[in-house]
Amino acid sequence: MKSDFGTTAKGESVALYTLKNRNGMEIAVSDYGAILVKVMVPDRDGNLIDVVLGYDDVKGYEKGTLYFGATVGRVANRIGGGAFELNGETYTLTQNDNRNTLHGGTDYYDKRMWKVEEADDRHVSLALHSPDGDQGFPGAVDIKVVYTLTDDNEVKIQYHAVPEADTLLNLTNHSYFNLSGHGSGNILEQEVMICGDAYARADAESIPSGELVYVEGTPMDFRSRKPIGREIEAAYEALELGQGYDHNWALNGSGYRQAAAMWSEQTGIEMKVYTDLPGMQFYTGNFIVSESGKEGAVYGKRQAACFESQYFPDAVHKEQFEGPVVRAGESYDTVTVYQFSWK
Ligand code: BGC
Repeated sequence: MKSDFGTTAKGESVALYTLKNRNGMEIAVSDYGAILVKVMVPDRDGNLIDVVLGYDDVKGYEKGTLYFGATVGRVANRIGGGAFELNGETYTLTQNDNRNTLHGGTDYYDKRMWKVEEADDRHVSLALHSPDGDQGFPGAVDIKVVYTLTDDNEVKIQYHAVPEADTLLNLTNHSYFNLSGHGSGNILEQEVMICGDAYARADAESIPSGELVYVEGTPMDFRSRKPIGREIEAAYEALELGQGYDHNWALNGSGYRQAAAMWSEQTGIEMKVYTDLPGMQFYTGNFIVSESGKEGAVYGKRQAACFESQYFPDAVHKEQFEGPVVRAGESYDTVTVYQFSWK
């Protein structure tokens, strides 16, 4: 179903696409930013709960600076120093996070109109042409993002892109999940499990040193499920520097596999995250400050968690990290799934 989602400051009409499945789940995606606006999941009593933070219309998304539900590119997370070298050339990007580039630099993919190529009750396919030099990156690239809602209660996000010249690509989705409902307060009692034995050590600007640290015996150990808040205030350097969890986990294994899970005791809603990428930024909304969102909700610190599948931050400067260089004509294909259940 297609509905009106408002008009941008430039006068573009924005549409919201609602998908539904057989089990009562619903999601909504806007053609502004290829943003995941709503994820409605039944709780154990059959009430539909919206488990992602967001805004009521496009005006909120135009003003917002927190990347609610955003499709992030060309390179999600940070590039240290806001510059990189490729094939002997130096490319300069915008420095929008200290001296570094965060989530592509200021000309964000989630602040542009995407073109809907196909849409029905189960999927919506969105396209963006990113020209040569866009955000400072070399090579034009046509990007496609397909959202599918399956009868297995999966929100599946597939990314496909083929650059015309060698470039960097690291696309992710920046949804903020609160499985007790988007306006229900903090997520500290909700539980998380992360399928990663190590995380990337990072400095005060969240730039990795290149070293992986084993989680065993540290507050970063989510190999068994535990409440997010149990150790978030621990006197542990990584947590102090990140002001909570805001780190990239090295996911165990390779290929398409489970990356994480999250539970709310209050609603009985569980989410499992799957991806084929090597890393995942687990971010606990440490920097949300009084943000007016959907249906009159005002969101604050640690009221949601992001599970951003990706190549490791600053991989372009770290020999030991895989990606994110994609060669001319090569196809970049990745998938991330958020799968829900309730009981
Ligand atoms: C980053 C956080 C940042 C947030 C922006 C996350 O991907 O790791 O440091 O504040 O995005 O909302």
